[in-house]
Amino acid sequence: ESGYITLDSGYKNTGATESAITFLDGEEGILRYRGYPIEQLAEQSSFIEVAYLLIYGKLPTVEELEVFTNEIKIHTLVNEDMRKILDGFPSTAHPMGILSALISSLTAFYPESLNPNQSKEEANLTIIRLMAKLPTIAAWSYKNSIGHPVNYPKNKLDYCSNFLHMMFAYPTEDYQIDPVVVKALNKLLILHADHEQNCSTSTVRLVGSANASLYSSVSAGISALWGPLHGGANQAVIEMLEQIKADGGDSKKFIAKAKDKDDPFRLMGFGHRVYKNFDPRATIIKKAADEVLTALGVKDPILDIAKELEEAALTDQYFVDRKLYPNVDFYSGIIYRALGIPTDMFTVMFALGRLPGWIAQWKEMREQKEPIGRPRQVYVGEKERNYIPMNER
Ligand code: SDX
Repeated sequence: ESGYITLDSGYKNTGATESAITFLDGEEGILRYRGYPIEQLAEQSSFIEVAYLLIYGKLPTVEELEVFTNEIKIHTLVNEDMRKILDGFPSTAHPMGILSALISSLTAFYPESLNPNQSKEEANLTIIRLMAKLPTIAAWSYKNSIGHPVNYPKNKLDYCSNFLHMMFAYPTEDYQIDPVVVKALNKLLILHADHEQNCSTSTVRLVGSANASLYSSVSAGISALWGPLHGGANQAVIEMLEQIKADGGDSKKFIAKAKDKDDPFRLMGFGHRVYKNFDPRATIIKKAADEVLTALGVKDPILDIAKELEEAALTDQYFVDRKLYPNVDFYSGIIYRALGIPTDMFTVMFALGRLPGWIAQWKEMREQKEPIGRPRQVYVGEKERNYIPMNER
């Protein structure tokens, strides 16, 4: 039976699909969304425009971007029934768990999203609803975790400013929108927007291939992203840097731990399945970290620890031999922290950025009418044997 099965655990050498969305070259450290280099998009575009590019395959005209932006604004509100579900979570609930639950509940509130043959308009409404409601749900999950009242969206604000308002406004004082913070957030979300067939995107495609709704598929993707080996790494990096700082700041000691096979400790934010060179996103984020912290007048000692750790690792044979470089998660948390975003919201920020990529990939899978994903296995268990009655065991 296993004659024709090729075993490839972790899908290290398996192409799951043909896709026209994102191009990665791991050897050269190249990343392009629909052909546009990430370096140009990070500097010149906005997150909403990049979301349009990923989902619809082209840069929008002024009118197209205006329509897309306004359609999203119409749907930013979350209905009160969903809001009641949020009230049911204790403040100790991790925001990623709340996000996964509430995004999945959208299928219950909008069951038409389950119809694989829905019209183009209805399918697009499903996409717009998700783009609009995830930031609201994300901000509300944060407010829930600090016992603060939620903020309703202010639709005169742009997408990133509206999110920051919902995150940080408080009944007794308005949140002052800082253009430096808005620009930094746009750049970070752009850099996280898609990354071809990574673990969470493959999860979204696999769940969607069963004709599950976009909402259920993205909810599954959020759960996969939460893993510390994947999107959860941005939170794990800050916890690691704090641990190094608390331990006296000796990077070399932690490099030695990361190399020790008997020690489960890994250098979080380092290494990548595809990039065997610098992760181009890490290069941009590292530069942005210096710029944003300087512009905000923030001095964060763990930025220096991160740089020392990178320096020590890049000159260590173990890391050089294994081509382990900083990845997207290594410096991103330092900027999030400077923007006032708490550590347990970092992976939520990753999900916010990755949402248009998940949507674009799910949409492409459906448009390509891909079959349900169902890998095989090589069976290595027991041969046939007879049942043993309890009194003979
Ligand atoms: C993301 O796929 C994507 O595109 C993901 C992502 C996206 O945008 O969607 O880029 C986002 O998830 C980035 C990665 C975030 N995760 C981390 O930073 C966690 C730490 N990194 C590692 O766990 C690891 O590097 C992975 C998970 C990122 C990649 O794992 P692989 O490709 O399965 O590599 P591996 O575990 O087989 O490691 C190969 C060797 C091993 O040593 P040997 O057994 O050959 O002696 O390198 C070692 C590993 O022990 N190694 C590390 C290491 N990463 C790999 N050793 C110490 N510290 C590390 N971080």
